[in-house]
Amino acid sequence: MTHETGRLYGLGIGPGDPELLTLKAYRILRSVPVIAYPTMENGKVLARAIVADFLRPEQIEVPMPLPFSPVRSSQPYYDIAAEKLAEHLSAGRDVAVLCEGEPFLYGSFMYLFNRLSSKFQTEVVPGISSTMASAAALGVPLTYRNDVLSIMPATLEADILRDRLAVADAAVIIKLGRHFSKVRDVLSELGLLSRSLYIERATMPNQRIVPIADIDAADVPYWALIMIPSLQTSVT
Ligand SMILES: C[S@@+](CC[C@H](N)C(=O)[O-])C[C@H]1O[C@@H](n2cnc3c(N)ncnc32)[C@H](O)[C@@H]1O
Repeated sequence: MTHETGRLYGLGIGPGDPELLTLKAYRILRSVPVIAYPTMENGKVLARAIVADFLRPEQIEVPMPLPFSPVRSSQPYYDIAAEKLAEHLSAGRDVAVLCEGEPFLYGSFMYLFNRLSSKFQTEVVPGISSTMASAAALGVPLTYRNDVLSIMPATLEADILRDRLAVADAAVIIKLGRHFSKVRDVLSELGLLSRSLYIERATMPNQRIVPIADIDAADVPYWALIMIPSLQTSVT
C-alpha cells in the first residue's frame, strides 16, 4: 500500500512583528509536524525568532544553512536543503518553510519551490512584505494614482541603480547592508537624498528610523531598506 506524501508550505511570516502573521500562517505553523528555516552559517536565524513563541516542542525543526555570500553559489546549499525536506515529505509529513516577509518577493523559498513543487503538493501562504510594512512604519503613503513603484536590490551595479531610480515614481531599495554607500552616492547624484527614508528592522523591537545623513555606512545591517515615496503631483 502506498502512503500519501506530505504537503510543502512556503509560509510568509511577515516582516518581524509576530502579530503581523496572517491567521492562515499561524494555523499552519501550529499544525505541521516539520518546520524548516534558513540559517546563516554563523547560526544566526531571523525567521525562527519571529515565530519562536508559537512553535510546539514536538515539532521537528530543520535548519537550512545558507552561505549569504556574494562569491559563493548558494545553489548546492538549496540542493541539500531540498533533499532534507523531500525525505520528510516522502514520509508523509507536512513541512512549513518559514519565509520572512512575502515568500515570492526576493525570498529564498523560491529556490526550494523550484526544486520541490513539481514532486510534492505545494502551497504558498502570502506574507506581509517588509516593503509594505516599512511604508506603514515610516508613516508615508508610497504611491498615488498612476504612480509606478520599483523595488530593487542594492546589490545592483551603480549604473543600473542610477538608470532605474532616474525613472521611478516611487522606489524601495532592499538588501542594503554593505551596499549602503554606493546607494547613497547614486541617490545624491540624482537629487533624491532629501526624499529618501531609511529604516532598519521594521516592526521588530529594535526597529530604527534614522535620517540618511546620520547613517554610518559601517553599521548598516542586511535587514534595512531605503524608501523613496512618490511625490503627490496631482490632487483630486
Ligand atoms: C532577501 S530580501 C527578502 C524580502 C522579503 N521576502 C520581504 O517580502 O520582505 C531581504 C531584504 O528585505 C529587506 N527587509 C526584510 N525584512 C526587513 C525589515 N523587517 N526591515 C527592513 N528591511 C527588511 C532588507 O532590505 C533585506 O535585505
